[in-house]
Amino acid sequence: MTDTKRIVLSSDHAAIDLRQAIARHIEAKGWEAVDIGPTTPESTHYPEHGAAAARKVASGDCALGIILCGTGQGIMMAANKVPGIRCGVCADPFSARMIRAHNDAQILSLGARIVGEGLALEIVDAFLETEFEGGRHGTRVDMIKALEA
Ligand code: RB5
Repeated sequence: MTDTKRIVLSSDHAAIDLRQAIARHIEAKGWEAVDIGPTTPESTHYPEHGAAAARKVASGDCALGIILCGTGQGIMMAANKVPGIRCGVCADPFSARMIRAHNDAQILSLGARIVGEGLALEIVDAFLETEFEGGRHGTRVDMIKALEA
Protein backbone atom coordinates (compact mmCIF):
# COMPACT_ATOMS: atom_id res chain seq x y z
CA MET A 1 0.00 0.00 0.00
CA THR A 2 1.37 3.44 -0.88
CA ASP A 3 1.57 6.05 1.89
CA THR A 4 -0.90 8.36 0.15
CA LYS A 5 -4.29 6.82 0.63
CA ARG A 6 -6.91 9.07 -1.01
CA ILE A 7 -8.59 7.19 -3.85
CA VAL A 8 -11.09 8.99 -6.08
CA LEU A 9 -14.03 6.98 -7.43
CA SER A 10 -16.53 7.94 -10.12
CA SER A 11 -18.83 6.22 -12.59
CA ASP A 12 -21.76 6.73 -14.87
CA HIS A 13 -25.27 5.41 -14.16
CA ALA A 14 -24.33 1.88 -15.29
CA ALA A 15 -22.01 1.28 -12.37
CA ILE A 16 -23.34 3.04 -9.28
CA ASP A 17 -23.90 -0.10 -7.18
CA LEU A 18 -20.50 -1.59 -8.00
CA ARG A 19 -18.74 1.74 -7.40
CA GLN A 20 -20.34 2.06 -3.98
CA ALA A 21 -19.40 -1.54 -3.12
CA ILE A 22 -15.80 -0.78 -4.09
CA ALA A 23 -15.84 2.38 -1.97
CA ARG A 24 -16.98 0.39 1.08
CA HIS A 25 -14.39 -2.30 0.36
CA ILE A 26 -11.43 0.04 0.11
CA GLU A 27 -12.52 2.03 3.18
CA ALA A 28 -12.57 -1.25 5.13
CA LYS A 29 -9.00 -1.82 3.98
CA GLY A 30 -7.82 1.56 5.25
CA TRP A 31 -7.89 3.63 2.06
CA GLU A 32 -9.85 6.89 1.94
CA ALA A 33 -12.57 6.66 -0.71
CA VAL A 34 -13.28 10.03 -2.30
CA ASP A 35 -16.51 9.06 -4.06
CA ILE A 36 -17.57 11.86 -6.41
CA GLY A 37 -20.72 10.12 -7.62
CA PRO A 38 -23.19 10.15 -9.16
CA THR A 39 -25.59 8.73 -6.58
CA THR A 40 -28.89 8.73 -8.48
CA PRO A 41 -29.68 6.32 -11.33
CA GLU A 42 -30.65 8.77 -14.08
CA SER A 43 -28.80 8.30 -17.36
CA THR A 44 -25.66 10.40 -17.36
CA HIS A 45 -22.56 11.00 -19.47
CA TYR A 46 -19.41 8.99 -18.72
CA PRO A 47 -16.96 11.57 -20.19
CA GLU A 48 -17.87 14.07 -17.46
CA HIS A 49 -17.28 11.54 -14.69
CA GLY A 50 -14.06 10.20 -16.17
CA ALA A 51 -12.66 13.69 -16.56
CA ALA A 52 -13.71 14.73 -13.04
CA ALA A 53 -11.92 11.77 -11.45
CA ALA A 54 -8.87 12.21 -13.66
CA ARG A 55 -8.58 15.88 -12.68
CA LYS A 56 -8.59 14.89 -8.99
CA VAL A 57 -5.58 12.69 -9.68
CA ALA A 58 -3.80 15.06 -12.06
CA SER A 59 -4.06 17.88 -9.50
CA GLY A 60 -2.54 15.72 -6.77
CA ASP A 61 -5.68 15.82 -4.62
CA CYS A 62 -5.97 12.02 -4.90
CA ALA A 63 -3.16 9.51 -5.35
CA LEU A 64 -5.05 7.00 -7.48
CA GLY A 65 -8.49 6.57 -9.00
CA ILE A 66 -11.06 3.92 -9.82
CA ILE A 67 -13.64 4.70 -12.49
CA LEU A 68 -16.44 2.62 -13.94
CA CYS A 69 -19.01 2.59 -16.70
CA GLY A 70 -20.84 -0.28 -18.41
CA THR A 71 -17.75 -1.57 -20.19
CA GLY A 72 -15.07 0.57 -18.56
CA GLN A 73 -14.03 1.66 -22.04
CA GLY A 74 -15.73 5.00 -22.58
CA ILE A 75 -14.85 6.42 -19.19
CA MET A 76 -11.25 5.22 -19.64
CA MET A 77 -11.02 7.06 -22.96
CA ALA A 78 -12.23 10.26 -21.33
CA ALA A 79 -9.85 9.96 -18.35
CA ASN A 80 -6.89 9.46 -20.66
CA LYS A 81 -7.59 12.83 -22.32
CA VAL A 82 -6.65 14.63 -19.09
CA PRO A 83 -2.95 15.55 -19.32
CA GLY A 84 -0.68 13.37 -17.23
CA ILE A 85 -3.21 10.59 -16.72
CA ARG A 86 -2.62 6.93 -17.54
CA CYS A 87 -5.72 4.79 -17.16
CA GLY A 88 -6.34 1.19 -18.21
CA VAL A 89 -9.40 -1.05 -18.32
CA CYS A 90 -8.90 -4.35 -16.48
CA ALA A 91 -11.06 -7.45 -16.22
CA ASP A 92 -8.47 -9.57 -14.38
CA PRO A 93 -6.12 -9.03 -11.41
CA PHE A 94 -2.93 -9.74 -13.40
CA SER A 95 -3.60 -6.84 -15.75
CA ALA A 96 -4.41 -4.61 -12.79
CA ARG A 97 -1.04 -5.40 -11.19
CA MET A 98 0.76 -4.80 -14.47
CA ILE A 99 -0.76 -1.40 -15.21
CA ARG A 100 0.68 -0.27 -11.86
CA ALA A 101 4.00 -2.16 -11.97
CA HIS A 102 4.91 -1.50 -15.60
CA ASN A 103 2.77 1.40 -16.82
CA ASP A 104 2.47 3.48 -13.62
CA ALA A 105 -1.24 3.88 -14.33
CA GLN A 106 -2.87 6.09 -11.72
CA ILE A 107 -6.43 5.12 -12.64
CA LEU A 108 -8.12 1.73 -12.97
CA SER A 109 -11.23 1.47 -15.12
CA LEU A 110 -13.78 -1.32 -14.66
CA GLY A 111 -16.82 -2.43 -16.65
CA ALA A 112 -19.76 -3.05 -14.36
CA ARG A 113 -21.46 -5.05 -17.13
CA ILE A 114 -18.30 -7.14 -17.58
CA VAL A 115 -17.07 -8.12 -14.12
CA GLY A 116 -19.07 -9.22 -11.08
CA GLU A 117 -18.48 -7.73 -7.67
CA GLY A 118 -16.20 -10.49 -6.36
CA LEU A 119 -13.83 -10.30 -9.30
CA ALA A 120 -13.97 -6.49 -9.31
CA LEU A 121 -12.83 -6.36 -5.69
CA GLU A 122 -9.89 -8.68 -6.46
CA ILE A 123 -8.93 -6.44 -9.38
CA VAL A 124 -9.14 -3.37 -7.15
CA ASP A 125 -6.93 -4.99 -4.49
CA ALA A 126 -4.34 -5.95 -7.11
CA PHE A 127 -4.29 -2.39 -8.45
CA LEU A 128 -4.04 -0.62 -5.08
CA GLU A 129 -1.48 -2.98 -3.57
CA THR A 130 1.04 -2.82 -6.44
CA GLU A 131 3.81 -0.24 -6.76
CA PHE A 132 5.42 1.03 -9.96
CA GLU A 133 8.69 -0.82 -10.58
CA GLY A 134 10.51 2.03 -12.36
CA GLY A 135 13.77 1.11 -14.12
CA ARG A 136 13.26 0.19 -17.77
CA HIS A 137 9.53 0.69 -17.25
CA GLY A 138 10.24 4.27 -16.22
CA THR A 139 11.98 4.88 -19.54
CA ARG A 140 8.88 3.66 -21.37
CA VAL A 141 6.47 5.66 -19.24
CA ASP A 142 8.62 8.73 -19.91
CA MET A 143 8.13 8.02 -23.62
CA ILE A 144 4.36 8.05 -23.08
CA LYS A 145 4.66 11.36 -21.22
CA ALA A 146 6.71 12.80 -24.08
CA LEU A 147 3.82 12.14 -26.45
CA GLU A 148 1.87 14.81 -24.55
CA ALA A 149 4.59 17.44 -24.87
C1 RB5 B 1 -24.01 3.48 -21.06
O1 RB5 B 1 -25.12 2.83 -21.58
C2 RB5 B 1 -22.75 2.88 -21.63
O2 RB5 B 1 -22.57 3.26 -22.95
C3 RB5 B 1 -21.56 3.29 -20.79
O3 RB5 B 1 -21.76 2.89 -19.46
C4 RB5 B 1 -20.21 2.70 -21.18
O4 RB5 B 1 -20.28 1.31 -21.31
C5 RB5 B 1 -19.52 3.35 -22.30
O5 RB5 B 1 -18.36 3.05 -22.63
